Amino acid sequence: MTAILHITDTHIVREGALVSGRLDSADALERLVAWINSIRAQIGPVDAVLVSGDLSDDGSVESYARFKRLVAPLDLPIHVIPGNHDARAPMRHAFASHLPADGPLNWEQRIGGIRLIGLDTLVEGQGAGTLSAESLTFLESALSASDATPVLLALHHPPFACGIRFMDDIGLTNAADFRDLVACFDGPMRIVCGHIHMMMVTDVAGHIAISAPSPCSTFAYDRRPDAPVGFLDQRDGCLLHRWDGAFQSIRLNPVAGAGPFPF
Ligand SMILES: [Fe+2]
Repeated sequence: MTAILHITDTHIVREGALVSGRLDSADALERLVAWINSIRAQIGPVDAVLVSGDLSDDGSVESYARFKRLVAPLDLPIHVIPGNHDARAPMRHAFASHLPADGPLNWEQRIGGIRLIGLDTLVEGQGAGTLSAESLTFLESALSASDATPVLLALHHPPFACGIRFMDDIGLTNAADFRDLVACFDGPMRIVCGHIHMMMVTDVAGHIAISAPSPCSTFAYDRRPDAPVGFLDQRDGCLLHRWDGAFQSIRLNPVAGAGPFPF
């Protein structure tokens, strides 16, 4: 059995700052981490944490140091990929133990019974993401080298349209290239992502793909072309992906009702 805690879009800023002058994202992450630790006995052993991008909101060196302090109480290995708000150089430096020394921040880790693969979709200076030619080659070779080991494949930008126009406008520009590569993989695979700050489940070339919620904010599910652009300050949780002969993804949401009451 392997279990990966999947946190995304924490949008940490420098000490004393707020996201968009409004969100205390550090407080949101601190509370999420404390809550996860309070339910550790309930959810069973966790092998590692995956953070699927936008760890930082401002890309500052300080924000990565603050992020690391905030997740340290989990006392778990942390595996990160960049999102559109991240900056490669300070992120690479902050996570030098598992990120490559140069080039895109693509990596593969064998964790328990699975292969966890992280892909870099960041194009610095813009919201939309792209898998560079180098990243597509990395993915192709990682998938072709596979044995029967299940793959948890992570990227920040969803390889699917979510229906919210202003988010799809900053989506993955070459999702078709991604789909073509994963379509050739016939082993067990789950695709996971962030960016849209909400849980959404779909099918990508025959594999289940899931986006995770953000601890600090979300977006209204509004498909109208003229949907108001902006975020909602709703806090949420994260996902837990378990492999135990099959992938199972559980939403962990700290907003719970009272109880348990007897049936
Ligand atoms: Fe993002």
